[in-house]
Amino acid sequence: MCGILGTVIHEGSEPLRSTLIGGLRAVEYRGYDSSGVAVLGSDGVMLSKRAGKISVLEDYLGEEPLVGSVGLGHTRWATHGEPNDVNSHPHQDNHETITLVHNGIIENYSELKLGLIAKGIHFHSETDTEVVANLIGYLYENEYPGNLIDAVRHACRQLKGSFSLVIMARDNPRMLIGVRQQMPLLVGHGKHASYLGSDVTAFLSMTRDVTYLEDGEMAVLDHDTVRFIDIATGKQIEKKRERVDWDIEQAQKGGFDTFMLKEIHEQPQVLRQMLERYLPSPAEPVYLPGLDEFFEDHDTRLISLVGCGTAWHACKVGRYVLEGLAKIPCRVEYAHEAQYHFAPIDDSAVTIAISQSGETADTLGAVKAQKALGSRSIAICNVVGSSLTRIADFTLYTTAGPEISVASTKAFTCQLTMLYLMGLWLAERNGSLDPDELRRLKAELIAIPDKMAAILHSKKQIDRLARVYRQVNHMYFLGRGLSYPVAMEGALKLKEISYVHAEGYAGGEMKHGAIALIEPGFPSCILAPQSPLLEKMVANMEEILARKGEVMVLTNNPDRFSQYDVHVFSFPDCPQLYSPLLMSLPLQLFAYYSAMLRGCDIDQPRNLAKSVVVE
Ligand code: G6P
Repeated sequence: MCGILGTVIHEGSEPLRSTLIGGLRAVEYRGYDSSGVAVLGSDGVMLSKRAGKISVLEDYLGEEPLVGSVGLGHTRWATHGEPNDVNSHPHQDNHETITLVHNGIIENYSELKLGLIAKGIHFHSETDTEVVANLIGYLYENEYPGNLIDAVRHACRQLKGSFSLVIMARDNPRMLIGVRQQMPLLVGHGKHASYLGSDVTAFLSMTRDVTYLEDGEMAVLDHDTVRFIDIATGKQIEKKRERVDWDIEQAQKGGFDTFMLKEIHEQPQVLRQMLERYLPSPAEPVYLPGLDEFFEDHDTRLISLVGCGTAWHACKVGRYVLEGLAKIPCRVEYAHEAQYHFAPIDDSAVTIAISQSGETADTLGAVKAQKALGSRSIAICNVVGSSLTRIADFTLYTTAGPEISVASTKAFTCQLTMLYLMGLWLAERNGSLDPDELRRLKAELIAIPDKMAAILHSKKQIDRLARVYRQVNHMYFLGRGLSYPVAMEGALKLKEISYVHAEGYAGGEMKHGAIALIEPGFPSCILAPQSPLLEKMVANMEEILARKGEVMVLTNNPDRFSQYDVHVFSFPDCPQLYSPLLMSLPLQLFAYYSAMLRGCDIDQPRNLAKSVVVE
């Protein structure tokens, strides 16, 4: 998740600083660990890049106006290589002929890099992007001299993965090329300049006339003309211009009213990307590089999961997943409890600390405490280079992209996905699962993002349910097994953003006290995925209905509930194991719409902070 942009001035040269820096600021929410710009002027390419926020780059530039005819910029959310000055974009080939910026992941970059090293090319960064710059540079110099379009086309045909690129060549001062493959890129048609951006916000203050690229397409911006080319065939294609009527602030939220709604909607896409990276096919092993070495010669007898808030709920789901798939005993503790409660733990244990930000003080404290007792540690984290990733022995990145809304949504489902991947990886390694079952579970996991997209298409039903419950002040969320932590997460979401008092309970525990609150009209949400525990949840529901409570059911077996006077939201079929991923979305939407109806500040709820860096 990076922000990219480029511009070509139709005639002459001009200071490009405000276009590039302003554009980068508008897409900063996509990534902000480093940034860079490059312009092509009369003295050649001037490239400046810096780790840190855009303000660091601005300080570094001083008064430099960045005069040129072509320019490009990038704000990074690191994937390959830590966020430092060298790994920042733009990147160049060895001869500094090609300069480019990239958003996405080149999956076969190691293989391409070896081929280029064999041709005598040197690399300076740890990024996949530098490989692309050198591949294009090599083809431009050796196989397609003077033909930048063909050099880029043939390079793209060798790349596997998801990427959008903006490319310029030193000897071509009026041309900018953009390519798109599973990462957004669009062209902006201005009066005196043309633009390329990962996001319309990148150039929205200059033009609202745009053309969206599709996968496998290239845009060639040359003087005042823009051509579109099919990368595979090289044939020119016609594309239509569209007029965007967003204002800048809305567009920064990708057209959604709030970051939370945007982030809820991003889940199919981010999970798809995450799975493409770590589990490209059910026939292949889960790809978690480095985990083999981590577990080598380690007789793991206990996994201790720690986290706070939503991440703690992920830990609770993780226990069921890891015990079920890998057959390793697990325990789950709030990080703030684990920090001071020295439960027996030694070097046969692995601590898994889960955190979106990687900066939660309690979680850092728990890892330090358990490490001191001999446990080895793995971070499941979303933020590259954060404190947690520095103190943990090993990190698995969730690649959810920047999560701006305080209430965590996509980071949670990405954390669950990483736990599933780890469970499958351990099961494969330990032989704890039948190979056919393992393959089936991998295929079913790969199918989840499409099912999430289907749920989002039915969001109006959830909006209607929120309206039914708009007056309530209390609500129970009940689940058993894997659904129990999901019930707690559903309750937390509602509390966090709508300020409705909500409790997540284990279905079986209700009769031991909580049922005392059920009276006519008291609302409960029953999580009832198809599972051996379904009938137990039906029994819980009957107990509530017998006391005239109101019931809303989330299930993928709606027929089982047709005879009852309850509100049913039905989600797609899936193995019980993955039901937490699918049930999370309607629960997030329910909290969202409930908060909207109450007029709450969704992205910045009262008293909360995105990252809690104090104990
Ligand atoms: C805060 C946030 C929660 C989050 C928790 C853990 O309390 O408000 O939404 O779940 O911190 O954050 P982390 O970054 O460690 O996942």
